[in-house]
Amino acid sequence: MKKHIAVVAGDGIGPDIVGEALKVLAKVGEKFGHSFTTSSYLAGGAALDSVGVPLPEETLKGCQASDSVLLGAVGGPKWDTLASNLRPEKALLGLRGGMGLFCNLRPAILYKQLAGACPLKNEIVGEGLDLMVVRELTGGIYFGQRGREDDSAYDTMAYSRAEIERIVRKGFEIAQKRSKRLCSVDKANILNTSQLWREVVKQVEVDYPDVQVSHLYVDNAAMQLVRNPRQFDVIVTENMFGDILSDEASQITGSIGMLPSASLREDSFGMYEPIHGSAPDIAGKNIANPIATILSVAMMLRYSFALATEADAIEQAVSKVLDMGYRTSDIYTEGMKKVGTNEMGDLIAQAL
Ligand code: IPM
Ligand code: MG
Repeated sequence: MKKHIAVVAGDGIGPDIVGEALKVLAKVGEKFGHSFTTSSYLAGGAALDSVGVPLPEETLKGCQASDSVLLGAVGGPKWDTLASNLRPEKALLGLRGGMGLFCNLRPAILYKQLAGACPLKNEIVGEGLDLMVVRELTGGIYFGQRGREDDSAYDTMAYSRAEIERIVRKGFEIAQKRSKRLCSVDKANILNTSQLWREVVKQVEVDYPDVQVSHLYVDNAAMQLVRNPRQFDVIVTENMFGDILSDEASQITGSIGMLPSASLREDSFGMYEPIHGSAPDIAGKNIANPIATILSVAMMLRYSFALATEADAIEQAVSKVLDMGYRTSDIYTEGMKKVGTNEMGDLIAQAL
């Protein structure tokens, strides 16, 4: 197979972790006989510093012309005081919106090797956690009308039936491939968009009779996630609720440095990135954990290129290296072998 990947390393630890992920991708190409070529593009603070805008036209075009996109992370304190249309985060929204990546998959998995890092009690976590947040990514309050006038400001949450239906169907399809349980999260006791959301879920569910559906208000869902996370398998929700709940879900696994994500549209095109941020304080120090980005490459192979065997191989390589006791400092516990970003990337490539 021949594929061309747009690489947006971004800011902070972005270049550190993306470098290791590309190492692993090259290894997969070698081992399985695929040709993966790459082009690098600027976005976020890196783009602001060099061309004055967070998302250069060339970056969006280059990403659109590729077979998929690998992104590191954007943002940092250096650019925090800029006007909101110039902030590095704008690049992310521009890429998501510009490429129509409405379906964001955020798995939250507690790795058995890292069980000690989970902040919840053993009896709550039981045999582990493995849930999937399906977040709507190109609508809602992130993309609605907004404004600011002196001492008043507003942001609008708007959704069309079609926007809700396509993400809800993704949620059902994913639930069908997993435990066949889907929890739809909304705030239908207050928001009009949520009432429409719930209505759509109830209409769509008849097409997926094998999936058991539940509905929770977002405040309750946030509480249930720490009270009894094992009740969840697939959660489907709108953009901002998904932003918040996916951070919460990642944190209860204790392994935020380990978790990848995929942002997809209806065809197989997608953008893949770790769920953690750019951690500017540890950038360039060979400390950051590259595993979330490496696992994002696995998601790319699985979802964009239908290379399930290759994706499995990466995931198994990661597991093997953890079994061997290697840890970057964020997941280090006493008695383990502490390694840096480069060593972790090398070890996973070798394990392949
Ligand atoms: C995320 C991030 C982004 C979001 C920010 C950086 C714009 O928090 O990917 O979850 O809110 O979507
Ligand atoms: Mg977030």
